[in-house]
Amino acid sequence: MKKPINIILSIISVISLSSCGWKAGENDPGIEYAPDMYYSKGYEPMTQYSDTNKYRYNPYFMSMREPVKGSVAIGQLDYQYAYDNTPDGYEAAGAGLSMKISLSEKDQLEGERLFGIYCSVCHGMMGGNDGPVSTKQAALKPSWPNYQDKYIKELPIGKIYHTLTYGKNNMGSYAYALTPKERWSVATYVKRLSMMDSLGNLPVIKAIGVVETATTAAVIDSSKSIKKMKP
Ligand code: HEC
Repeated sequence: MKKPINIILSIISVISLSSCGWKAGENDPGIEYAPDMYYSKGYEPMTQYSDTNKYRYNPYFMSMREPVKGSVAIGQLDYQYAYDNTPDGYEAAGAGLSMKISLSEKDQLEGERLFGIYCSVCHGMMGGNDGPVSTKQAALKPSWPNYQDKYIKELPIGKIYHTLTYGKNNMGSYAYALTPKERWSVATYVKRLSMMDSLGNLPVIKAIGVVETATTAAVIDSSKSIKKMKP
């Protein structure tokens, strides 16, 4: 009968010792029997690790795995773009890329708003290439005088979309800021500007085809008649 009493006594002494010596406090977690359970060895996202011994499981010292080549997030298929950022890609987009979505009048007004934010600094709100930036820096002024020029009138909308996606010479890409739908709405606004009348009125466009001279391909919504530009 002596042995069980000894065991019970030693258990009690271990418990009391641990509760005196390693009591958890405000800044002290107390004794941790399985620290791995409390502190995960998770990778910090968006961080590159160079310590090969410690973080040797992911290739290239990356904390995140890249998605499998060709994967597309759900609902984001329109981010797939078939044309390369080359002169050939630009020409091919002009000949083969058409706007597959239809933009409501609201979407077209959104295109106007986005143009005011991202483009007017160089191109001017009315497309006069007289924005504050291009007025100061000649290299940022396009060679054609304004959006009512024949060049923009005849520029296929696919080329405009392509330029917004990749940029062109001194103009940067806007793919970082504009979703594909927003790029189409801004491209449509460019086309609307090219159809501005002498009073500064812009037509509301119903659809734009893929033909070379997008002016003739644009179907103007006559029921909506003409939308007066904001000054
Ligand atoms: C920093 C000044 C700058 C800004 C901002 C800018 N552009 Fe441009 N853009 C240029 C220049 C310069 C060119 C002439 C590029 C060339 O052909 O060398 C150009 C060319 C273009 C063209 C003609 C493309 C072609 O195929 O020839 C279009 C259309 C256009 N810009 C629209 C836009 C739109 C829409 C935005 C806003 C999303 C924008 N730009 C923002 C400077 C700018």
